[in-house]
Amino acid sequence: MNNFTFYNPTRIIFGKGTETRVGIETAKYSKRVLLVYGGGSIRKSGLYDKVTASLKEHGILFMELSGVVPNPRVSLVREGIRLCRENKLDFILAVGGGSVIDTAKGIAIGVPYQGDVWDFYDGKAQIKESLPVGVILTIPAAGSESSTSSVLTNEDGWYKKGTGSDLMRPKFAILNPELTYTLPPYQTACGAADIMAHVMERYFTNTQDVDFTDRLCEATLKTIIANVPLAIAEPDNYAARAEVMWAGTIAHNDLLGTGRDQDWASHKIEHELSAIYDVAHGAGLAVVFPAWMKYVYKHNIQRFVQFAVRVWDVDQDFANPERTALAGIERLKEFFRRIGLPVTLEELGVRDDRYEEMADKCTMGDTFEIGGLVKLKKKDVIEIYKLARA
Ligand code: NZQ
Ligand code: ZN
Repeated sequence: MNNFTFYNPTRIIFGKGTETRVGIETAKYSKRVLLVYGGGSIRKSGLYDKVTASLKEHGILFMELSGVVPNPRVSLVREGIRLCRENKLDFILAVGGGSVIDTAKGIAIGVPYQGDVWDFYDGKAQIKESLPVGVILTIPAAGSESSTSSVLTNEDGWYKKGTGSDLMRPKFAILNPELTYTLPPYQTACGAADIMAHVMERYFTNTQDVDFTDRLCEATLKTIIANVPLAIAEPDNYAARAEVMWAGTIAHNDLLGTGRDQDWASHKIEHELSAIYDVAHGAGLAVVFPAWMKYVYKHNIQRFVQFAVRVWDVDQDFANPERTALAGIERLKEFFRRIGLPVTLEELGVRDDRYEEMADKCTMGDTFEIGGLVKLKKKDVIEIYKLARA
């Protein structure tokens, strides 16, 4: 096990009705707030009315920035920064999913910074300061509610990039599983793929002696595998929604990655798909992850055997570890299919004429290797896109 520091100060407020606490939690930090949300799901569900009532009740002045889209754009973040500066707003409240939260985090680091906020995503500037951010989560998926990062898309060139700092962890995250009842099955499934990917990016490691976190990872994956089909079949099944929501936060709050090297190649490969084709992040991962596994499993076959046996209950073929490892990858793919996700680039509507361009962007013109389990160059990334084709 590697040495590590674990620091996650986000206060998690979990359970039925907890969104009514937003006013009291926000008032601990500020009375001048920017409320950020997406394309209207929170208005339709009635959450908007509850949130604004709670803010008013606690004497909080707020302005709104709505219209965040999946694969959120840096242009809206710039608009939010302007609103905060002109109106002296000093707290950002995100009500929504990863896209809304990442927009809020981008605004929070952009307000105190003199240059353009994209500098942080482009690696040209380090985050030294952030306004505080609070969250009401409406979709378990990205884990942004207690993560260190924000991922944005720059329309100028269609780059999707992330930035991170401990300063970006939200001050609080309100998680009421009831708020996820309105999620369409496809969004629930996309969220599941993202949660599983966050676990697997940590699970597939070369670090030895990480049995405790291996087993936490396996428990998290099994929880998703058992509960997501239930949540899709019965959208208002509180027990299933609650399991998925808590697992989604744990999957990406860094606990599962303690003491081990991590991978993250699949996320980088997927971000290129989202940037160019605007596909849902989770759907892109359902296509990329199994292809990445097929490309790399021979480098650490024992780990893929363990995944197959412990997560998918595959019968171990001691004489043929390769067969066991491949069966595990196949079970993962079957699961994604079963919950209604695409598992090939063709199903995702991605043509094969831009693999080279995406692999080039992903490896910064073949100057940068991606991944922790295996280091991948541009040519490897192209092969993974090819494996994912059909
Ligand atoms: O915009 P509205 O109308 O709210 O609709 C949203 C959106 O269309 C809808 N939705 C959310 N909650 C709902 C709901 N519809 C009905 N009922 C509800 N309760 O779902 C759609 C998707 O929302 P989005 O926020 O895009 O989803 P998600 O949470 O999956 O976020 C994806 C983004 O997070 C980034 C991804 O790259 C992607 O851009 N990620 C951020 C990470 C981080 N900051 O730590 C890590 C992740 O790996 C990921 O990269
Ligand atoms: Zn993700």
